[in-house]
Amino acid sequence: MKFVPIGEIAKHTGKKVSLRGWIYRHRASKGVVFIVLRDSSGIVQCAVKGKEYEKAKSLLVESSVAVEGTVKEDKRAPGGYEVAVKKLDVVHKAERFPITKDQSKEFLRDMRHLWLRSQPMAAVLKVRSTVFGAVDEFFRSRGYYEFQSPMFVGTAAEGGSTLFEVDYFGKKAYLTQTWQLYAEAAIFALEKIYTIAPSFRAERSSTSRHLTEFWHAEVETAWQQFDELQKQGEELVSFIVQKVLKENKKELELLGADIGALGRVKPPFPRIRYRDALKKLASAGMDVPYGKDLRTKEEAKLCEMYDKPLIVTHYPKEIKAFYMKQAPDDKDAVLGMDMLVPHVGEIIGGSEREEDIGEIKKKLAAQGEKPEDYGWYIDTRRYGSVPHSGFGMGIDRVVEWICGLDSIHEAIGFPRTMDRITP
Ligand code: 4AD
Ligand code: MG
Repeated sequence: MKFVPIGEIAKHTGKKVSLRGWIYRHRASKGVVFIVLRDSSGIVQCAVKGKEYEKAKSLLVESSVAVEGTVKEDKRAPGGYEVAVKKLDVVHKAERFPITKDQSKEFLRDMRHLWLRSQPMAAVLKVRSTVFGAVDEFFRSRGYYEFQSPMFVGTAAEGGSTLFEVDYFGKKAYLTQTWQLYAEAAIFALEKIYTIAPSFRAERSSTSRHLTEFWHAEVETAWQQFDELQKQGEELVSFIVQKVLKENKKELELLGADIGALGRVKPPFPRIRYRDALKKLASAGMDVPYGKDLRTKEEAKLCEMYDKPLIVTHYPKEIKAFYMKQAPDDKDAVLGMDMLVPHVGEIIGGSEREEDIGEIKKKLAAQGEKPEDYGWYIDTRRYGSVPHSGFGMGIDRVVEWICGLDSIHEAIGFPRTMDRITP
């Protein structure tokens, strides 16, 4: 028997179909049971009368069933179609489903393994899948190789305070914060590389934009300088957003995403130096002293001033990682960039990379690291060093932003945070 995906039901108007899925809603009245049936592609109302009535009446939501019946248009039904069921097979009779209407976010997070089946959660997961596919398509169509780095590492790359320590046969190891340092070794073989992989950060605060395990799309390109890096960032983000608009209109509507704003996400994006960002903030009544990192509310204020994602460059070197290259025209700044979007803040962080071994050692020492622990990394600068740059994009944050979600926790199937490791 061939089963029709519920999302394609319109094509079968007037015909007999077989469907299978889960009972999303269930209402029994005299002589007829209305079942809203759900599969991964959509929902449709089924009316069960006659000899299958008794069987249908006792079923609870989330029971799995297969039905056979005739499709007709029905303006009153959710989705606009109804199936007059002639045959009903119960695949599994569900127990009483623990999720009912109006439950707290925390409860729904405890029930995430079941809440995944909800319409909003499934919509987010579909958008997320499109985003992953778009990252691959973007880089592969531009001649990039996919390169993998180890997850167990020996040193920090993004500061020691967010390192997850692991007991590695009696020695200290860490879960990787980024693919980058290994990527910088691999560009000497492959030149243009990217990855999508988890990164780990022991984030001790539970915020709407931090996970302890997040999905990181990273890219590293030999010969590429700072200006081209920024261009690549805005092209990637625009490509992803346009792809989602094309493939997930239905999901974006269901989620109430800002489709108009997403439509404007096309290159070029505005670019502003950190120093000038401080001036803009000051004129809006937010004084940030030079050398302080921008906080969420300051990033939000800046985003309000533009109608597209914003690229902030030339951050002070003290607040950025040791591998960022000294800016040629500003002794206090590095060639680092962040891309900021409304409500979420930073979705991309990247830089041109420092090539000077002395500078790298100096910065490592200034950040309390032992340069000798980074011997293999420093070696990459000894044998035919070339200008290169790259960035990392937090995919969960991108999904949070595109879908217009309140929290990054809603952007991933099973979020990992300081206070959550199950389900
Ligand atoms: O700015 P970050 O720390 O940069 C790096 O890791 C570089 N090594 C990337 C590179 O140049 N290859 O992280 C990059 C991005 C951030 O802009 C943010 O979107 C995301 O990763 N990110 C997180 N997302 C969720 N939860 C967290 N705890 C995150 N930390 C960073
Ligand atoms: Mg950053």
